[in-house]
Amino acid sequence: MTQSALSQNTVIRSRDTAKEVSNAGMFFRRWLANPLQMGSIVPSSPALCQRVVRNVRRAEDEIVLELGAGTGVISQALLDGGVPANRLYVVEIVPAMARHLRDVLPGVNVIEGDARHLPDLLPAHWQGKVGTVICGVPLVLLPKPEQRRFIDAIEAVAPGRGFLHYSYCATSPLPAKLHTLGAKREAWTPLNFPPASVWRYTPAG
Ligand SMILES: C[S@@+](CC[C@H](N)C(=O)[O-])C[C@H]1O[C@@H](n2cnc3c(N)ncnc32)[C@H](O)[C@@H]1O
Repeated sequence: MTQSALSQNTVIRSRDTAKEVSNAGMFFRRWLANPLQMGSIVPSSPALCQRVVRNVRRAEDEIVLELGAGTGVISQALLDGGVPANRLYVVEIVPAMARHLRDVLPGVNVIEGDARHLPDLLPAHWQGKVGTVICGVPLVLLPKPEQRRFIDAIEAVAPGRGFLHYSYCATSPLPAKLHTLGAKREAWTPLNFPPASVWRYTPAG
């Protein structure tokens, strides 16, 4: 195959993969079934995925843990950004989406389950070896005690690391002081529906 045919093929293949991964139809059907659990009618845009990936920190012997992977667009962007598949753990509560993630993201560790039970879900040898947690679960839609359950579950498997969280809110989606968290808006993009920010929350004190 010539160099130009090769690169054309790569472009076509990556477009196909993106379509296959994003699966907007499945996403929308899940939103109709449970809007509060999904929090969005469409998967995150490439611009938002890139902004999340740019803020990921990971030492070579650490994993990245994504909560609420949906149809896998951020997971795919993490792979494209250089996170090895065997160092990526994704948690998704919807069984059909977890099956889809296994189909389209070979080699990635897909955990079907409720992220509030992270200490029971993540293999023990990775607990304390998490470089970055990305939380895609729409925490802003939850009552504060429920938000706390997610924050505590993350702290249990990634002590002191905090987490990245993307949101469509104009201000912090979490009451950071109440949860004793430091909050920093790392990025914003209008190229998402709706426009979105990436926040970093870290345990304060
Ligand atoms: C806003 S969508 C994000 C999907 C995807 N990461 C993206 O950026 O397109 C939120 C996802 O969190 C999942 N989710 C909601 N509650 C969850 C929970 N308790 N544990 C794990 N996943 C959950 C939903 O099923 C949904 O796929």
